Amino acid sequence: AQPKSMRGIKLLISAGPTREPLDPVRYISNRSSGKMGYSIAKAARQAGADVTLVSGPVNLPPPDDIDVISVETAQQMFAAVMNHATRCDIYIGAAAVADYRPARMQEHKIKKHMADSVIELSQNPDIIASVAGLSAKPFVVGFAAETDDLENYASQKLRDKNLDMIAANLVGQDEGGFDSERNALQVFWPGGGQHFAMTEKNHLAHQLLNLITEKFHEKNPA
Ligand code: C5P
Repeated sequence: AQPKSMRGIKLLISAGPTREPLDPVRYISNRSSGKMGYSIAKAARQAGADVTLVSGPVNLPPPDDIDVISVETAQQMFAAVMNHATRCDIYIGAAAVADYRPARMQEHKIKKHMADSVIELSQNPDIIASVAGLSAKPFVVGFAAETDDLENYASQKLRDKNLDMIAANLVGQDEGGFDSERNALQVFWPGGGQHFAMTEKNHLAHQLLNLITEKFHEKNPA
């Protein structure tokens, strides 16, 4: 399919993992290469969108002609996203945000004199639910990585977080998901869904953006 034009559309996208420090040398994080989010950011730019990318730490080159804001923690990602959310048309939350952070960051490296130890955790803000809760909210697209019962969990998240669309992928399979160049997606919106077969993340990004652009225009007729 030909890419739909995204000219004039302001897209905000978050990608990659977040890192939650325990001490100056250790952190808690999620498995995420950032490839899916970066592919979407680049594909949207190619389609003519104005793109802002809020990125956690990844091993990917910053894409050309995209405004990149680098963050480490979920709280930093939350601040950066909320700072731009009211000025964008579409927000895509493709980041693997850590749900919890160590309640305290130790100033010095923790020594290994303890036999067993307990890390106290505090809950991080839910970034995408906060964007979807804004009164002047953009068109909000979430991601869901699930190991089982994809449809149930994804459609529950669509409702609970008040999203306009959710793109779900099965992880822990032979192909696709973390670190992979390829992925398959099952996309849901209120009242419908579409399956995208296993393909390169770059190609998948264009397919997903075509669908997002179509649904965005349905919701916001010119
Ligand atoms: O609930 P779960 O983490 O599986 O939901 C995934 C979706 O929620 C993704 O779009 C992810 O970027 C977003 N999320 C978020 N803030 C969090 C946790 C998840 O924006 N603290």
